[in-house]
Amino acid sequence: MTQPLLENRVAIVTGAGSGIGAASARRFAAEGAAVVAVDIRGSKAAETAAAIDDQGGHAMAIEADVSQAADVERMVAETVGELGGLDVLFSNAGTIRPGTAVELSVEDWDLVMAVNVRSVFLGGKYAVPAMLERGGGSIINTASISGLHGDGGAVVYAASKAAVINLTRAMATDHSGDGIRVNAICPGTIETPPVQRMVANPEVMRVNVEAHSLGRIGQPEEIAAAAVWLASDESSFVTGEHLVVDGGLRSRSPLGRLADPRPAHRRT
Ligand SMILES: NC(=O)c1ccc[n+]([C@@H]2O[C@H](COP(=O)([O-])OP(=O)(O)OC[C@H]3O[C@@H](n4cnc5c(N)ncnc54)[C@H](O)[C@@H]3O)[C@@H](O)[C@H]2O)c1
Repeated sequence: MTQPLLENRVAIVTGAGSGIGAASARRFAAEGAAVVAVDIRGSKAAETAAAIDDQGGHAMAIEADVSQAADVERMVAETVGELGGLDVLFSNAGTIRPGTAVELSVEDWDLVMAVNVRSVFLGGKYAVPAMLERGGGSIINTASISGLHGDGGAVVYAASKAAVINLTRAMATDHSGDGIRVNAICPGTIETPPVQRMVANPEVMRVNVEAHSLGRIGQPEEIAAAAVWLASDESSFVTGEHLVVDGGLRSRSPLGRLADPRPAHRRT
């Protein structure tokens, strides 16, 4: 009989109230982890934790804004206090604001950089000391294929996800001697609630389906499968990597195009 991949592990998943985070929290629990579902929407985190408990898993929920140092510090402290330690952190919560450099407000730039990038730094800042107490651990950060290309139409999103990829590499270098591996995942278009709202438009769905070599967009469970692998000892010789899980998306992300990346003065 195969062993569950995350037996006796304690795992935090941020953004666990929806989409990729919710699917990953469920999958981590199915693989034997005690899961801490974290979300800025506390009721959504609680829903995910309750669903895991209903399936016979072990989960708790924490409401936290991952862009805020005090919240991330509390998230780790409560996890260690309740569950005795921390082995896995999936820093997955993220947000997007459309806009070219001309269109985007300074406030939206700061918001997206805080939610997408500062959160990853804060995750490392507070999770690494807790993982050291256990002799090591695994940190996984959700980047995006938008961090690999100069997508149009969402400059701060593209910049933030590129930052996540290189922050991942830097953290991996710093903590490789501590038994802590740090990796990122770059999803293609994944059918989560924000994307579902976009692809409700048949033309938007068509562009996305055609952009992916596999001829479809991805499901949150397909990112969860990659996250479980990176969290587990199955990936014990992998660190500092960004794992592209994009169904063979070989051109730029279609998401930006859909938001009409042309500068305002070139739109008709
Ligand atoms: N869906 C895609 O196509 C896609 C593609 C590439 C990357 N991503 C990335 O995947 C991650 C998850 O996205 P998703 O598509 O599942 O979206 P989603 O909206 O379904 O889930 C994101 C969750 O994060 C939470 N959240 C937002 N800001 C937060 C904050 N400051 N603190 C704590 N929680 C916060 C939201 O409440 C939400 O429940 C994001 O980092 C996103 O950028 C998604």
